[in-house]
Amino acid sequence: MTHRILILGGTTEARQLAARLAARGDLDITLSLAGRTENPVAQPVPVRVGGFGGARGLAEWLAEHKSDLMIDATHPYAARISANAAEAARISGVPILALRRPGWEPVEGDRWTLLDDGDQAVAALGHKPRRVFLALGRQEVAAFETAPQHAYVIRSVDPITPPLGVPDATYILARGPFAEADERALLEAQRIDVIVAKNSGGQATYGKIAAARQLGIEVILFRRPQLPDVPSAPSVSAMAEMVDHFATPAEKRGV
Ligand SMILES: NC(=O)c1ccc[n+]([C@@H]2O[C@H](COP(=O)([O-])OP(=O)(O)OC[C@H]3O[C@@H](n4cnc5c(N)ncnc54)[C@H](OP(=O)(O)O)[C@@H]3O)[C@@H](O)[C@H]2O)c1
Repeated sequence: MTHRILILGGTTEARQLAARLAARGDLDITLSLAGRTENPVAQPVPVRVGGFGGARGLAEWLAEHKSDLMIDATHPYAARISANAAEAARISGVPILALRRPGWEPVEGDRWTLLDDGDQAVAALGHKPRRVFLALGRQEVAAFETAPQHAYVIRSVDPITPPLGVPDATYILARGPFAEADERALLEAQRIDVIVAKNSGGQATYGKIAAARQLGIEVILFRRPQLPDVPSAPSVSAMAEMVDHFATPAEKRGV
């Protein structure tokens, strides 16, 4: 029997998971992207793009495509789609699993301030002009227009359009992973004294956190949003094992 699996993606792990599961050869996998990124990277399985129209739309999609399993492998800060996915699983009766990448934990030498959003970060930056590295997406940087006294270095996957309405902003277009040595060089060259970022977890974007620690630079991290409580795995390989359990008959697993 071929199991039909919908992976909600938009992350490196979703792509890796899709490749890993596709290699089994007995699964019919579709990867779903929101369609935010202008040049998404190539995916190893068929892709569908765009919103479903809320939890009900997603539930309808699952029924229409006779899905057997849904895997939420979206970004830890993509809270709406994760909530929709849990609700769609409830409505449709299709089981859900989630790949939940653990957040980073502070270690000795880290100078972290934990806040909830851009407005709080703006308040925390204060009035005195600073050199700020915004490692944030398009949607999150707008709040910083209210603090035009700072100089900003903004790194994002897609261009910030329109540009931020502040006099001093440098834009860097780049997609991770980012090596610690390169991050350190960037922070030094740009004379950054504070970083604002999400607690994305994983290795790909940890370089700036490690480099900030080395240089004694403050890091303002957005707290993670609350996500629905569904069966989850912390890594691609742990999730692949959960799927093995789901898709492979017990006798074949030697149980
Ligand atoms: N938020 C981040 O920091 C971040 C960082 C890296 C990558 N991403 C990826 O970018 C995508 C969008 O993030 P977001 O923060 O805008 O999410 P979000 O606020 O949780 O979702 C907003 C809406 O976008 C649609 N959507 C989101 N992910 C989708 C997916 N994988 N497939 C189909 N529709 C999707 C859904 O529309 P409908 O309600 O119409 O279905 C959802 O209600 C996610 O796939 C996420 O994994 C996000």
